[in-house]
Amino acid sequence: MTAEAGLPDTLRDLPVWTPDAVELADLELLLAGVYRPLTGFLGSFDAAMVIAGGRLSDGTPWPVPVTLAVPKELTAHERIVLQDPEGVPLAVLRVAEVWQDPTTQGWRLAGPLDALRSPAHGPFHRLRRRPEEIPPSDGPVLAVATREPLHRKQLGQLRQVAERLGARVLVLPMLSGEHDESLVRALLAVRRELPEGARIVPVPLPARDDPDRDVLLHAHIAAAYGATHLLAERETEGTAIPPVVPEPWAYDADVEVWRPVARIEPDHVQAELTPERLGELLDAGEPVPDWFTPPAVAAELALARPPKRSRGITVFFTGLSGSGKSTVARGLADALVERGGRTVTLLDGDVVRRTLSAGLTFSRADRDLNIRRIGFVAAEITRHGGVAICAPIAPYAATRAEVRRMVSVSGDFVLVHVATPLEECERRDRKGLYAKARAGLIPEFTGISDPYEEPDDADLRLDTSRMPPEDAVAAVLDLLVEGGWVRPE
Ligand code: ADX
Repeated sequence: MTAEAGLPDTLRDLPVWTPDAVELADLELLLAGVYRPLTGFLGSFDAAMVIAGGRLSDGTPWPVPVTLAVPKELTAHERIVLQDPEGVPLAVLRVAEVWQDPTTQGWRLAGPLDALRSPAHGPFHRLRRRPEEIPPSDGPVLAVATREPLHRKQLGQLRQVAERLGARVLVLPMLSGEHDESLVRALLAVRRELPEGARIVPVPLPARDDPDRDVLLHAHIAAAYGATHLLAERETEGTAIPPVVPEPWAYDADVEVWRPVARIEPDHVQAELTPERLGELLDAGEPVPDWFTPPAVAAELALARPPKRSRGITVFFTGLSGSGKSTVARGLADALVERGGRTVTLLDGDVVRRTLSAGLTFSRADRDLNIRRIGFVAAEITRHGGVAICAPIAPYAATRAEVRRMVSVSGDFVLVHVATPLEECERRDRKGLYAKARAGLIPEFTGISDPYEEPDDADLRLDTSRMPPEDAVAAVLDLLVEGGWVRPE
């Protein structure tokens, strides 16, 4: 069956569901046979056994619960079609069990899968392989499953262990949906520094919460791809293939090479470049030293974490109607445009309500939708290195937190609480809305008949009843200059 053929007639009446990112990655690995012996999503008993003891109910070791959450409406069907976020059908799930997660009470479907087509999207898709597409090796294969580029130290350790084992090398970049292309490019960039014949096979695998079980899962996946050993940072019990922990390496400043610490004169050992220091260098736009990583990898690091001066940022104002958000946001936008060097988009609450969110009401659901739309646009602007200035009321903490998460994937987020007291907003009542709200003419009015949840995570709090607008704008600018996003004047 081909993609062009679409959904066969017999499946056209089935309900469709789009799993979340982790579930879609699991689906892809299930369909590719990487999760063998698993052939479908787990039922309640298997899931409970896996969580409790790391084994399926038949005793087979299995590290993580591979389950599928669905809304209650989808629990009354024998088969459902699983599709990707663009609506391409990927597989049919034959429902063997409908169950409820004992902790969250969320609904789960279990059962085997019939593949419709293999998911064919994402950067470097051409590098993806099913296990059977990898020619078997007669000798040992050393896998390294990584979410980070390989720097000079890791490259040296990898070469040393591979040589000792007489192994071929299999690099498995684990894709999480964030900066994946950057990771794969950074690994392709060091291909020539890997032992002869090394392969790079990206695997969709968003990080789960449990690092120990992650290692077990990585070992399982590596084994499915034919690896006999897994390069690991520490020993873990019960892995599908033995983990190999390399001996400690350091940079020998005397002869300017990385090598095992045991072979370096103690006073020639150069201190490691800590992740914090690396982050500071990237934030400041300073070069990452060549002794630490090859220049091509450094270039990828800088693309994934651009200097703050040119990194995208969302400045999100929140506060009551009439608190002065629009005025301060507009002043900030003007000031940034005057300074130059940055593109600025202002997403003012009232303007958005007339355009992007025209037709929405002030119900909780519509307010949330409004803020999510603003968040979506702000996240895109931020991803492209721009400055998004948002100024809606955004009364609900959970929705603000959601926007913070959306934006933080690809840039920075600053929350400014315009904390002008309600009495002052009402006294100003520029649009006459408070009077109408008090008179009961506007229902669900924020601060009067609808809640405003004060932020406890604001980076700056401004009370415009105590300062002129210029000072409020200056305070936000100072914050941006101190944080390194804006050049001092
Ligand atoms: S939010 O709650 O969804 O963030 P948003 O910032 O878009 O609100 O719109 C708020 C503006 O809409 C206010 O400044 C005010 O002019 C107007 N408005 C109309 N009805 C209401 C209401 N019930 N509550 C708050 N603001 C309202």
